[in-house]
Amino acid sequence: MPPLELTDGAPGATVWLTGLSGAGKSTVAAVLSSMLAERGIRRLVLDGDDLREGLNADLGFSAEDRAENVRRVGEVAQLFARTGHLVLVTVISPYAAGREAVRRRHGETAVPFAEVHVATALEICEGRDPKGLYARARAGRIERFTGVSDPYETPGSPEVRLDTAGRTPVESAAFLLEELERLGLITASASRAT
Ligand code: ADX
Repeated sequence: MPPLELTDGAPGATVWLTGLSGAGKSTVAAVLSSMLAERGIRRLVLDGDDLREGLNADLGFSAEDRAENVRRVGEVAQLFARTGHLVLVTVISPYAAGREAVRRRHGETAVPFAEVHVATALEICEGRDPKGLYARARAGRIERFTGVSDPYETPGSPEVRLDTAGRTPVESAAFLLEELERLGLITASASRAT
């Protein structure tokens, strides 16, 4: 099914931010969401932490549960994108197979999909440690913590790579906005829409 058109002519799409905890996925998505709102673009943020409080509250961090988490988030994203939303997804999504499955699923329904690797280095993420989780993981108090005791499979050919180190959140979001324009996911007409 082709994506529905926004009133300003832009189709929906999913922009999938993958990366380590603390890489800046949620922060960049929140700022980008405000920038999109200013442009009158219908958008939605699907955040891993939020969704784990409800829709995915039954899931933990085993490989199977992460795969199911990513599958569900991908389904929700695809449904909203199909109705003309620009969906910003922020989940670690550490396994390439899960990310590729989501991409394929979007392909089946002809919904545009872009993978954004928020490629902030582990040392930087760990230095930020906004929730104190790296410290707890290093102390052995959290099992299977991505980047510490569980793998993160680096995306091989994402549409966009974004390193948030040395950039403010606004600079990172502005960079991503330009990339979305370059990819044709948002258009000049959408940029001017109110
Ligand atoms: S994913 O691996 O299944 O894609 P998701 O993005 O939904 O992960 O959730 C990651 C968030 O869960 C992290 O930002 C962190 O707050 C929390 N978390 C708790 N335990 C872990 C863990 N073992 N590995 C990674 N994140 C964890």
